[in-house]
Amino acid sequence: MLSETLAGLGRFSADGPGVTRFAYDDHWCDAQRWLAGRAVELGLTATPDAAGNLFFHAPDVAPGTPAVLVGSHLDTVRHGGLYDGAYGAVCGLLVAAELRDRKDLPVVGMVTAEEEGSRYSGDMLGTRAILGRMSPTELDTMRDEAGISWRDALRHAHERDCATSLAAGARPCPVMFPPAAMIEIHIEQGPVLESERLAIGIVEHIVGYRRLRARVRGEARHAGTTPMRLRKDALAAAAEMILAVENEAREMGEPAVATAGHVTAEPGLYNVVPGASEVWIEMRHVDVEKVAALEASVTARCRSIAARREVDLDMERVAGLEPAALSTPMAREAESLARELGVAHRRMVSGAGHDAMLFAAAGVPTLMFFVPSRGGISHAPDEHTDPADLWTGLRFLLEFARRMTIVPEAV
Ligand code: GLV
Ligand code: MN
Ligand code: MN
Repeated sequence: MLSETLAGLGRFSADGPGVTRFAYDDHWCDAQRWLAGRAVELGLTATPDAAGNLFFHAPDVAPGTPAVLVGSHLDTVRHGGLYDGAYGAVCGLLVAAELRDRKDLPVVGMVTAEEEGSRYSGDMLGTRAILGRMSPTELDTMRDEAGISWRDALRHAHERDCATSLAAGARPCPVMFPPAAMIEIHIEQGPVLESERLAIGIVEHIVGYRRLRARVRGEARHAGTTPMRLRKDALAAAAEMILAVENEAREMGEPAVATAGHVTAEPGLYNVVPGASEVWIEMRHVDVEKVAALEASVTARCRSIAARREVDLDMERVAGLEPAALSTPMAREAESLARELGVAHRRMVSGAGHDAMLFAAAGVPTLMFFVPSRGGISHAPDEHTDPADLWTGLRFLLEFARRMTIVPEAV
């Protein structure tokens, strides 16, 4: 059931290598509806909320009931793999089905919307809606690259049965199941578990990040007649900035990382000196002060490059979350369960962002588990996890959720 469901979800994708399923688009809506159909076959009710999050619960567990939320996301990066998010979403569904008779503290499967930020770079919009951490104005100010507002994307999802309609007033996305706790299982997306031959990672911390857009404006001029000394080449300036981003993280040292993942040049021809360029920059660190330091030093270096090259620079922070500490009591319980079951495990830090970090930051007792990723590969079509590892992860998650009583949060 687990591997077939993951393979089944992989069919819902835009053309091109791997899986491309952006939040609220037709492929995403089809995937959500298909998984909702699997939930119904398993005897659960599938209930979306107004932000497009989806919940799998026993029919007699009414919305409004506090619950342990178990899940992840179905949206992907462009040309991503089968497992990032989908694995945790399917596990959430299967665990909710298995534990459907639990009434003291219901276990509800959850699929969050727009975790990746591939379409709306707004720091996990779906989860923020669940936690009441969105403002109604974002429905109109948040726009994708085509200019479509979050509100219009939700209207589309609503027409496709993947979101309820937005409520009026300050709380447009009423909370379906107040989170008493949150558990997310995910592929590691890095090489540690595989290289140490371990089955389970118990995640204690998740890195924080900043995402910046650098908009460089120079002068578009004839590329044949404009001498080098008279140019204000926006793309050449952007190229220096990209290398500066890389150097900042190298100079700070591991585990700092910084990436320029996207660059444009206008007008984009052989014979015109680029007049405008935009670079998308991301920095991550597990230490709250280091994330801030990376942002400050990258910004300063880009400004000094722009000044030296006499081009205009506008730096905008488009997203950013602080590093998160997950629940220490839950991690301890997980560790003793792993010992009891003889599951090879370790505690670890996640270098990837996850919905769990927002739940933890909101004070919800939260824990994540990782399973190995072949070659540490993720956010790429050749993402792979051995079916036996997927299965071990699911069994571990199920057992952990089954035994869970709440809520001792002295993190
Ligand atoms: C999510 O996958 C992220 O870490 O960017
Ligand atoms: Mn993910
Ligand atoms: Mn991802």
